[in-house]
Amino acid sequence: MAGSRPDPGHRHAMPDEHSDDFVHEPVMVDEVLEALRPVPAGIHVDATVGGGGHAAALLADRPVAHLVGIDRDPRALAAARRRLAPHADRVTLIRAPYDRLADEVGGVARRLALPVTSVLFDLGVSSPQLDHPERGFSYRHRGPLDMRMDPDSSLTAGEIVNTWDARAIADLLRRHADERFAGRIARAIVAHRPITDTVELAEIVRDAIPAPARRRGGHPARRTFQALRIAVNDELTILDRALEQALDLLAPQGRCVVLAYHSGEDRIVKRRFRDAAGEAPPPRPGLPPPPGTVPVVRHVWRGARTPSRAEVERNRRAEAARLRAVEKLGSGGATPDRGSS
Ligand SMILES: C[S@@+](CC[C@H](N)C(=O)[O-])C[C@H]1O[C@@H](n2cnc3c(N)ncnc32)[C@H](O)[C@@H]1O
Repeated sequence: MAGSRPDPGHRHAMPDEHSDDFVHEPVMVDEVLEALRPVPAGIHVDATVGGGGHAAALLADRPVAHLVGIDRDPRALAAARRRLAPHADRVTLIRAPYDRLADEVGGVARRLALPVTSVLFDLGVSSPQLDHPERGFSYRHRGPLDMRMDPDSSLTAGEIVNTWDARAIADLLRRHADERFAGRIARAIVAHRPITDTVELAEIVRDAIPAPARRRGGHPARRTFQALRIAVNDELTILDRALEQALDLLAPQGRCVVLAYHSGEDRIVKRRFRDAAGEAPPPRPGLPPPPGTVPVVRHVWRGARTPSRAEVERNRRAEAARLRAVEKLGSGGATPDRGSS
């Protein structure tokens, strides 16, 4: 793996990219399809194609669409390739971070001479990334302190916990996970170096949290692992850039639909959509809105939609999902796909 710097605990082999065990149940599929049904014919971008669950549903729902699937995890792309094989002539899969959307999708759109009419983001990690201990995302299974979605990227969770100073770690835990005990956890991490695997880290975090607080809000290490994952994959900076590019790329009446799973990412989506809808708040009450607030999108619905109780009972990982959607303004010559409403 060119360019990778495995941390000291990285003694587990990476899973085989070609194995068939990438199973991820897509979230709020009906709601996503409903949001995308009215868009004009053209290129549909799945910016987080994962195992191809949403993409397969979309292709089945819309026979004329061309789909560009993006993911930075080669194992996810291999799974998507297998899953989407029946539609291979209508699918382009690209390994890239989604903030390269403009370049990667722009090239395909020019080649096919088609407008980009939808972009879907289903943020965060996939179930196989969490469930395979070798990936190092899970506090429940022993694995290396890795957490890279792209195995060729350089920063690992191991490097953060074993080399960053306590103040930088505490800052990361506050910023990416609103961790109340950030300072205590950061000091405990520094005191226990070198930390070699996920379970060891989870135990250090648990022991650093006062006993009464350990019993609230799920596993005591959940927020620390979330914060590390976000930092390792630079998730929030990349997301804002990617959303901006997606809104630029969309043709009139095209839609951008986003599923977010924690408040940090949902805040970024909400703010970017609000600003694009021309609703940026004035710098101070009573002042006019800031310049550049001409709306380029409209909200498809107000606020965020959430999964049904039945879906959450079937799939606990859907519980935190927040679905938002905007539509690009302006009139275009594009014709709706089959099934438009
Ligand atoms: C929740 S999963 C998507 C699952 C997919 N919707 C499905 O139905 O199978 C999120 C995917 O986004 C990918 N991902 C996360 N951040 C990314 C980024 N910045 N660039 C590209 N892919 C990213 C992850 O590797 C993961 O496969």
